[in-house]
Amino acid sequence: MQRLGMARPVRDTSETLKLPDDEPTSITFRSPTPADGATMWTLTRDAGGLDLNSPYAYLLAGHHFGSTSIVAEAGDGDLAGFVFAYSPPDEPDTVFVWQVITNPRFRGAGVGRRMLHEVIDRARTRGITTMTATVTPSNDASKALFSAVARDLGVDYGERPCFGQELFPGDGEHEPEDEVRVGPFG
Ligand SMILES: CC(C)(COP(=O)(O)OP(=O)(O)OC[C@H]1O[C@@H](n2cnc3c(N)ncnc32)[C@H](O)[C@@H]1OP(=O)(O)O)[C@@H](O)C(=O)NCCC(=O)NCCS
Repeated sequence: MQRLGMARPVRDTSETLKLPDDEPTSITFRSPTPADGATMWTLTRDAGGLDLNSPYAYLLAGHHFGSTSIVAEAGDGDLAGFVFAYSPPDEPDTVFVWQVITNPRFRGAGVGRRMLHEVIDRARTRGITTMTATVTPSNDASKALFSAVARDLGVDYGERPCFGQELFPGDGEHEPEDEVRVGPFG
């Protein structure tokens, strides 16, 4: 488990977590356990912006995907964010980010970026060279997040169509999903 002070470097770059002065002085980045599932579900429900999965799905993040996922815990115990990620069975060199979310209280402070770097640092030790995710075309924050991580690493960032709107139920309420790709990071 790694604790991070407000003014300490996020990585070996000059980035820092830019938390407001009245926020807790540390955020801890660790692997989720099933005990985090309910909090992950609640944050996703309350923050909006993402499809809300079943509570059971968030239990699985800790039960099966703890080694590829991350939770960010604020000093006062609040969940600052999480990344639910796994390695697709047919793409063992890839870590796929199913969901990444930062608690609105902590947005714009570098928490999302740091969480993705934590996932990549752990994935690299298992031979993973690429991070993928799907994002809706209108999600500028998400695209900016993944491209910022690619820029940090000095690797390629790409986007291409993935899931068309016709694949989702309903009458076009759900946007299509484009794949974003970061890497290879070697
Ligand atoms: C996407 C999300 C996780 C970003 O988290 P965050 O902790 O606020 O992001 P960071 O502070 O680490 O910022 C990382 C980069 O994204 C950019 N960014 C963050 N929010 C942004 C926004 N609303 N619009 C444009 N760029 C944005 C930052 O400027 C930074 O890029 P830069 O270094 O080039 O300036 C957050 O907005 C969120 O939880 N959104 C709702 C859930 C979601 O859409 N998840 C993604 C789909 S799975």
